[in-house]
Parts: sequence; C-alpha cells; structure tokens
Amino acid sequence: MSLPSRLPEILQAVMQGQPRALADDHYPHWHHAPVTGLMNDPNGFIEFAGRYHLFYQWNPFACDHTFKCWGHWSSADLIHWRHEPIALIPDEEYDRNGCYSGCAIDHEGILRLFYTGNVKFADGARTAWQCLATQCENGAFSKQGPVLPLPTGYTGHVRDPKVWWHHDRWYMVLGAQDLQLRGKVLLFSSTNLQQWLSHGEIAGHGLNGLSSGGYMWECPDLFPLNGTDILICCPQGLPREEYRFLNTYPAVWMQGQLDYARSAFECSELHELDSGFEFYAPQTLLSSDGRRLLIGWMGVPDGEELSQPTCAQGWIHQMTCLRELTWRNGTLYQTPARELAALRGEMQGWQGGVLRLVPMELAFDIACGDELTIDCAGALHLRVNGDGLRLSRQSLETAEIHHRYWRGTVCHLHILIDRSSIEIFINHGEGVMSSRFFPDYPGELTFTGSTPVAFRYWPLLPHMIE
Ligand code: FRU
Repeated sequence: MSLPSRLPEILQAVMQGQPRALADDHYPHWHHAPVTGLMNDPNGFIEFAGRYHLFYQWNPFACDHTFKCWGHWSSADLIHWRHEPIALIPDEEYDRNGCYSGCAIDHEGILRLFYTGNVKFADGARTAWQCLATQCENGAFSKQGPVLPLPTGYTGHVRDPKVWWHHDRWYMVLGAQDLQLRGKVLLFSSTNLQQWLSHGEIAGHGLNGLSSGGYMWECPDLFPLNGTDILICCPQGLPREEYRFLNTYPAVWMQGQLDYARSAFECSELHELDSGFEFYAPQTLLSSDGRRLLIGWMGVPDGEELSQPTCAQGWIHQMTCLRELTWRNGTLYQTPARELAALRGEMQGWQGGVLRLVPMELAFDIACGDELTIDCAGALHLRVNGDGLRLSRQSLETAEIHHRYWRGTVCHLHILIDRSSIEIFINHGEGVMSSRFFPDYPGELTFTGSTPVAFRYWPLLPHMIE
C-alpha cells in the first residue's frame, strides 16, 4: 500500500529554502550542496548514455536525518549540472523510514537503481529491504519493490547495495551488522536482478585478521583498479588511534583480490581514505574512458555535524570534488578529476604573506623538512613540518581544538578551496584531507614558513546547478 506523497511539501520546502541557502556566504561556489535541508551520501553515481548521474541522500524538510529521499543531478561534462526529477521518496511500507543509500546500473540500456528500504518499528527494532527501481521515459523512477529481504544472521542494519556486472552475472555488496553486533561486508550474486544468492561475508570484523573491526560497516564499494581490487567501506566503531581514525566514523580502503570462485576477498589492512575532518560514504563509477572516479560526502554523521552554522540558513553539507583514483607504487592515489581544470580562472603567481580568501586552487612544492603554516581566516589552521601535515580547528561546540593528521614527508600540496571547504591533496594524491570550515567574510589566507612561499593559483569560477 502506498503512503501519501510528500511531493507538495517538498516543493514548498524548496521554494522557501533555496533563496536563503544560495544567499549564505558559506554556500559552495563550485561543490554540490542541497538547495535546502540536509544532504548526505552520494548515491547511484554512474555514467549512463553519455551523461553522468549523481543521486544523493536528501532531507528537504530540515537539517536532520529524519527523512530520506533521493535527489538527482546529471551532467554531460562533470562541470555543468542540472537538477533532475526527485528519484525516490519513501512512500511505500517497505521504505517508509527512508530510501537509504544505493547505486545505479545500466541494465540493457535502462537506468535502474538499487537502494535500501529502511523500516523502523515502534519498539526500536528495524528491518531493511534491498529494493529496485527503474527509470521511465519521463525521467522519473518506478519502484519494483524489494528484491532481497534481511539475510538471516544479521540485525536490521543491512544496507547500501553496490551492484556491478562481472562475466555472466550481477554481484552486490552490502554493509551489515551480524547478530554479535560486528560489522561485515556481504556478497550476493544474481542473473536476473530479482533473485539474489548469498556468498557470505567477504570483509569485516574477524576476517583477514581484523580483530577490532567495529560494530557496523556502511557503504561498501568494490572495484578493480589497475590490476588489483579495492574495497572501500565505512566501518563504525573502529578504535581511535593516535593519528588515524579520529573522526566519529572513518572511510577506509583495503587492497586485495576478489576470488569470485571462492567468494573470498583476501586483503590488506585498513587504510584511511581521507584524513581530514569531513569525509564519509564515498562512491565510485567507471567512466567510459576507463577512469575510476570517486565522490564523497564532505560530512560525517553523529559528531558535531548539526552544530554547523549553515543550519541557521536552512541547509547543511556538501559533496567533495570529483576525484580520479589510481593504484600506483602499492598505494591508492586520489587526484582532482581533470575536468575540474575547466573551472580555473586566469592563473596568478603569488609570493608574499597574505592572500584574500576566495574559491581557488593552488599548487606548490615544499622542500623536505620545510615548515609552513597556512591560517584560513582564523577558522582552520594547516601546519606542515617533517612529521607531515596537521589540520587544526576549534570544536563547533566547545573551546577545544581538534587536530587531524597526515603522517609522512610532504613534498607537494595541491589545495582546492571553496566558500566553506578545503581539500588538500598531498604528494600528488598520496594523501587527502577534506574539511569544512566556516570563516567570516571577507577573510584572508596567511602563509608563514621557514622559506618564502611562492606558488601559482587559479581563482575558481562558480559552477551552478541549473
Ligand atoms: C551513511 C548512511 C548509510 C545509509 C544512509 C542513510 O551515511 O548511514 O548507511 O544508507 O546514510 O541516509
């Protein structure tokens, strides 16, 4: 039975909220953000029939996680985006508490979505259905309903399907929590997208020698990259270390080989995918020219997120920039997608102390062991020395100063700045740190160092979503 449509209210929320969000000094100039309300995970990221599609978890009604539909943008060139019809709204019993995260596939020339129908019960229990929807001629999606109920042996926390084609069938990974409350990644396969065969657990607590894997793994993505396989996932409940896993929940990558015949993924230890303050639930696509592109949510759930000042303007969160992934020298590299160069204004050379804080991209070498600090309008502080890079900012709720670290020798920095975000690519993508910060405008970037700093930079043009 269908629940009443919330479309009229969504339209009203957008009409009321959008002007306020767009007028906010902190609203991104060139990143994806919600026109009102709360946006979290990227979903259904795919190149399909000559256009890129990016769906997203969206609560248009409020800056909280109570309502989840799928918004939808598309683009031919990854620079100019347009709004598409809202793809999924929780209006069925099987998704009544949210159309949770999932993916998109090209099925015989038709765009189809897999998502999690989240259902909560009055006693606090919950269940989850993995559901299918298909795009119609008019661009809207029609729901086919659940294709996979909760697998036995797991709590109601089983979600975030990522589906791909390999040889002669479809495969799906799901994030899950087992009945002992341990985080897992499950593998399934299907020849018809309707019936799914379980192949068991391929990663998580207790597998591949992992003795403290936490209580829930969300948003898995498994893909081949330059001759190896990479699993990306978001484990909840990992022990915090001195320099790693300091966010409420991290996003990690593991490298290994998915053995389809044995349904096993033997892999390396966990590596943090991004060591900044905000990064979660990334998703990748394979582009038609063979690149593996990634986009993440520049946010983290359950920490200080709802204390961000943009909530007062009725919107919260943004995506990261698009990134290209490569596997080189035994590690995962992330670099800004080459398309982003189209946003560059005229290149400027710079040497001195202070620079006006505007959306910009800058790149420079650092001699080994040199010290450098960059103060971003008093709202974020970056320090490079022989130990690596440390990012610091004040808590949004207390006077405490928080730090995040990338450890190693820093020889090159490539930095992308927006109105309230920074993405720092270290050593041409060996490390990345993504963070929000909320400066007062006008603001300044102040550089101090052991040697004079000189670099080239480009002001970045706005990219508007039409
Ligand atoms: C990750 C997540 C997913 C879930 C979605 C709900 O941020 O918790 O596991 O599907 O958000 O919005």
